[in-house]
Amino acid sequence: MTSSQPKPTTTDSGSPVASDEHSLTVGPDGPLLLNDHYLIEQMANFNRERIPERQPHAKGGGAFLRFETTEDVSAYTRAGFLQPGAETRGVIRFSTVAGERGSPDTWRDPRGFSLKLWTDDGVWDMVGNNTPVFFVRDPMKFQHFIRSQKRRVANNLRDHDMQWDFWTLSPESAHQVTWLMGDRGIPRSWRHMNGYSSHTYSWINAAGELFWVKYHFKTDQGVECLTQDEADHLAGADADYHQRDLYDQIEAGNHPSWTLHVQVMPFADAKTYRFNPFDLTKVWPHEDYPLIKVGTLTLDRNVEDYHAEMEQAAFEPNNLVPGTGLSPDRMLLARGFSYADAHRARLGVNYKQIPVNAPRSEVNNYAKDGAMRITNSRDPIYAPNSYGGPEADPKRVAEALWHADGDMIRTANVLHEQDDDWGQAGTMVREVFDDAARERFVNNVAGHLSDGVSEPILQRAFEYWRNVDKDIGDRIEQAVRAS
Ligand code: HEM
Repeated sequence: MTSSQPKPTTTDSGSPVASDEHSLTVGPDGPLLLNDHYLIEQMANFNRERIPERQPHAKGGGAFLRFETTEDVSAYTRAGFLQPGAETRGVIRFSTVAGERGSPDTWRDPRGFSLKLWTDDGVWDMVGNNTPVFFVRDPMKFQHFIRSQKRRVANNLRDHDMQWDFWTLSPESAHQVTWLMGDRGIPRSWRHMNGYSSHTYSWINAAGELFWVKYHFKTDQGVECLTQDEADHLAGADADYHQRDLYDQIEAGNHPSWTLHVQVMPFADAKTYRFNPFDLTKVWPHEDYPLIKVGTLTLDRNVEDYHAEMEQAAFEPNNLVPGTGLSPDRMLLARGFSYADAHRARLGVNYKQIPVNAPRSEVNNYAKDGAMRITNSRDPIYAPNSYGGPEADPKRVAEALWHADGDMIRTANVLHEQDDDWGQAGTMVREVFDDAARERFVNNVAGHLSDGVSEPILQRAFEYWRNVDKDIGDRIEQAVRAS
């Protein structure tokens, strides 16, 4: 057979099939036959094509990447992939949060920015967003927050009343909602937005010293955003606008890149800093902790099989490698449990054996069997053992450990002088936005509030914005009352 001839169709077991078009019947008008195995296989596969979509962040896309460490940050971390000259391959996924798998890319929403690096010491993931802060600071509230962004029980509609009800009863959301309603609330493309860890993580250097770090991936394409009108138009004209843009650019050889910077806080500063540095609703001002350049992230290859390489990609903040660790941020600690749990539910217990999730470094452990496991470790399958099974080597790990004690309590961690809800949101409105950006911000918020938000939530929203900034709150109220 020449290469220009099509290959013969086969069943899933690889045997040639008799027809792509005609099922087996008794005579031209007769009944179908149960022994037409290929027809049954077609129907059965089709009926099982869908897997559950991600609960949040269902709509997204991405590409394969390479990360190069161009600078020397070895004073802060011993991680192999962060040593000068190291080059690591991986995969990235961008997403919206609230919409379903087919929802428009241009809805106003934070964007996910998840990356997975297949390092020599195991898989390292950063599951971040295009915003440096988040809506809540306690994991108890995360599920409620996401539900308020999704659909109502009765009518299956998204509902601004429910969204503002939650936000105005959760003043810690003010900083992130200010971000969301500002110009950066709708990026022009995934290539034109930054990616942030948002959380504080830890780094450990070769001497065993611990530092607190925040990751900032700054887009080399420049930050560009869509106006509400442009986004509304695109939502109808091309719901997959961001996905198409990324795919087409990479196909055309225009490989987007980001420069990784970190903010590094010495371990001891955390206790005495003016606000809780593990509070996810706050940024660390750059005057206090300037950006330190680390390396370059480049997207250089499209995925070829969206289901296998993107829909089944499983990112999790607990994928850490020696030299990197978590921090006392209680949101981050909860995420350390939640993602692996979500993957087990969505993809099955052996999701780490799906090629896109599998480490490129050696796996030696005592896990065994389970649905869809394609390979087991060799005997012995228990530890301790006398037969040469793998042995943990604490010297290779250097876990990020810090001191903690106290009574068991349920309370907000507000011990620092400036642990407030409104301050950084007010600074953004007054000092980051210019007059034109403030005008667009007032219009965006007023437009959102005028679409189905009822009293007393509406009144509470005006107060919420007056707490951020008296003038901006008054202007929002005027705009809503005038509409
Ligand atoms: C996705 C939980 C906070 C970024 C998800 C998923 C869950 C989840 C269950 C779906 C995972 C999947 O099925 O693949 C939580 C919990 C949080 C939290 C419990 C807080 C306690 C955050 C924060 C960020 C974030 C603060 C960003 C800084 C993302 C991203 C995805 C995601 C980017 C999509 C991952 C992907 O591309 O596959 N989250 N989340 N989440 N979350 Fe969170």
